[in-house]
Amino acid sequence: MSSILIKAGTIVTVNNNGDILNGFSLAVENGKITKIDKTENFSEDVFDVVYDYSNYVIIPGFVQTHVHLCQTLFRGLADDLELLDWLRKHIFPYEFSHDEESLRASAKLGIYELLTGGTTTILDMGTMNHQQVVFDELISSGIRAFAGKCMIDENDIFPDFKEDTKKSIEESYSLAREFHNSANGRIKYAFAPRFVLSCSEKLLIETREIQKDFAGSLYHTHSSENKGEIKAVKEKTGMENIEYFNSIGVLGNKTILAHGIHVNEKEIGILKETDTKISHCPSANLKLASGIANIPRYLVENISVSLGADGPPCNNNLSMFTEMRLASLIQKPIHGPTSMRAETVFRLATIEGAKALGIEDEIGSIEEGKKADLVALDLNNPEQPLIVDKSNIYSAIIYSSSSKHVKEVFVDGKHLVSNGKSLVYDKDDIFHKGKKELNKLLKRVANK
Ligand code: GUN
Ligand code: FE
Repeated sequence: MSSILIKAGTIVTVNNNGDILNGFSLAVENGKITKIDKTENFSEDVFDVVYDYSNYVIIPGFVQTHVHLCQTLFRGLADDLELLDWLRKHIFPYEFSHDEESLRASAKLGIYELLTGGTTTILDMGTMNHQQVVFDELISSGIRAFAGKCMIDENDIFPDFKEDTKKSIEESYSLAREFHNSANGRIKYAFAPRFVLSCSEKLLIETREIQKDFAGSLYHTHSSENKGEIKAVKEKTGMENIEYFNSIGVLGNKTILAHGIHVNEKEIGILKETDTKISHCPSANLKLASGIANIPRYLVENISVSLGADGPPCNNNLSMFTEMRLASLIQKPIHGPTSMRAETVFRLATIEGAKALGIEDEIGSIEEGKKADLVALDLNNPEQPLIVDKSNIYSAIIYSSSSKHVKEVFVDGKHLVSNGKSLVYDKDDIFHKGKKELNKLLKRVANK
């Protein structure tokens, strides 16, 4: 791979000191940041390519620790419902009706939106059928991802959408064998039992056992999102959701729980003791009327919190800017104006996401030796602060910026977005193909 020099206006490093560097540049070789130094100390001629981003702010790519690429096609088709009705009436029937082509179209649209919005790493909860297709798209798109087939072996909500326990486990195992650490380690496996209400105890426990066979893989599920859900979990198991997960031994530092809204004191203690990670999805939590997770409390307890947009039909966007803004704003009326400062939220969106995935040695900050997963933002617009310096740079990003300010995106040093345009996907092409596949899918749903 060629050597690259990136001349930056400002670099928001997100290193341990929180350094913000003005007038510095980055050298990238073989996909890694090899040197960060004052721009005048580099000689341009020794590089194969030089990018002049001296008007831009360079940040680490965002890390979203909970998304559903398979749901992108369903955006705007499942609004104004609570979780269980949302799943029953729309999401489970739609996911059940995916074929390979509709799933491919859905994944492409999702990855397109994520990359052009500055998200360079995702943890994706896949779907039950055709998950191989999602892996193909993750690999060819250039995005960094953990993903896995969604596992469902019980389903009172929409009984057609489930499969045999043994099949679910065997297929997950074989996908993990094929895709864990593929694409030079850019793609990793995350076992994905959907949630307690759609999984047998045997499935939850055996999945944990097989997950241990794949070093660096994750256990990814939903927990404690909705009051009706936790009531049903209590009826099923006799326990609160996190208490139940603990009792069957599936928690730990390789387990990521999406949501964690309705939890009691004992469960907070369990999360802390087991080092289990929470993925906070503020838009989805508001839109599905689920509630507001007590994130400031988690942070005080040193419980890992990172951010995700969740699925397009419960958000209805995949923008990390929206999640960062809401993650900050929703806590302020409850816990006070300084409860979720812009810098804190920015760390959740970058280095804390990397830590949750266990890859903080590779990504999440801009430091020598780390992978070149980089985003260049244009903060020179009338809708942003007129003066941006170290004192308000996080404010400018969290409170006044959006995906439209993302200009350049690199993953592993590979240029994936240029001047705001995807270098991977043709926008019109994926839009029209997505529409066509959605129409076909809706016909299949109607005919079932
Ligand atoms: N719980 C189980 N499945 C889902 C899902 O697809 N989205 C959300 N938000 N919660 C879930
Ligand atoms: Fe989800």
